[in-house]
Amino acid sequence: MSTPATAYGTLPPASPLANRKPISLPRLHEMRERGEKITMLTAYDATFAAVADAAGVECILVGDSLGMVCQGLNSTVGVTLETMRHHTESVARGVRRVQGTAWIIGDLPFGSYQASREQALQSAVVLMQAGAHMVKLEGGGWTAETVRFLVERGIPVCAHLGLTPQTVHALGGYRVQGRAPAAAQQLRAQALELQDAGASMLVLEMVPAPLARDLTPELPRCHTIGIGSGKDTAGQVLVLHDMLGIHLGKAPKFVRNFMAGAEGVQEAMAHYVRAVKAGEFPDNTLHAWSE
Ligand code: KIV
Repeated sequence: MSTPATAYGTLPPASPLANRKPISLPRLHEMRERGEKITMLTAYDATFAAVADAAGVECILVGDSLGMVCQGLNSTVGVTLETMRHHTESVARGVRRVQGTAWIIGDLPFGSYQASREQALQSAVVLMQAGAHMVKLEGGGWTAETVRFLVERGIPVCAHLGLTPQTVHALGGYRVQGRAPAAAQQLRAQALELQDAGASMLVLEMVPAPLARDLTPELPRCHTIGIGSGKDTAGQVLVLHDMLGIHLGKAPKFVRNFMAGAEGVQEAMAHYVRAVKAGEFPDNTLHAWSE
């Protein structure tokens, strides 16, 4: 495979690690069946997306966390659909440029899917046409109907429960969710409902590790992707800047700086992939929850 030159230098060649077939839903299901962990990182631009792909990261989330890490906002609430379209397009271009294989997930921003199922469809179409293979939306309960509507129309959906940053003001801050038995029960019911509605992935953000562990085998058709939720999920996701050790404020306590001991960004990402697949990240201390 050639290494295309860009204005920023030469992009890395695709990872020699894998037999690089495009990542698809059937491939993710196969990985799950053989017990291989799914790796996901956020990326917001072409170059980082290409490097993540080359490092062997299977899923790239164009997260609305870009509001914080790229735009300097205090929360994801101010991120618009147009901004998400722009970054999704950049990421997809980067992956294509290196003939990459990553599965690209476009995050539906706050206000782009809550009004109606039709609004959600229109917003999802924008991100799919920008190059996403799947869209992500936050919340449970009312979202199940929206998920079903999108899935029936050929749009794969990743759901997101636990700490849902778009509703940070309603939740009262960035804190662990599902701690009390009633809250855990509700989260479990919502997760099962989302699987029934056709969601094929579920980000579990800052939920107690035992809850994420117990829920995962109950969701064979909906791969749990943990962040700050312990190690026993089907896969893991981190915000790119966090795993590269770049923070404007305090790093979340479940994050590891993969730049430590790496010669460059691609190596840091490859270490992340290896650590997740080997079950070494997160370790038992790296979750947001403690008893
Ligand atoms: O927007 C984002 O980056 C996310 C991850 C934290 C899962 O939703």
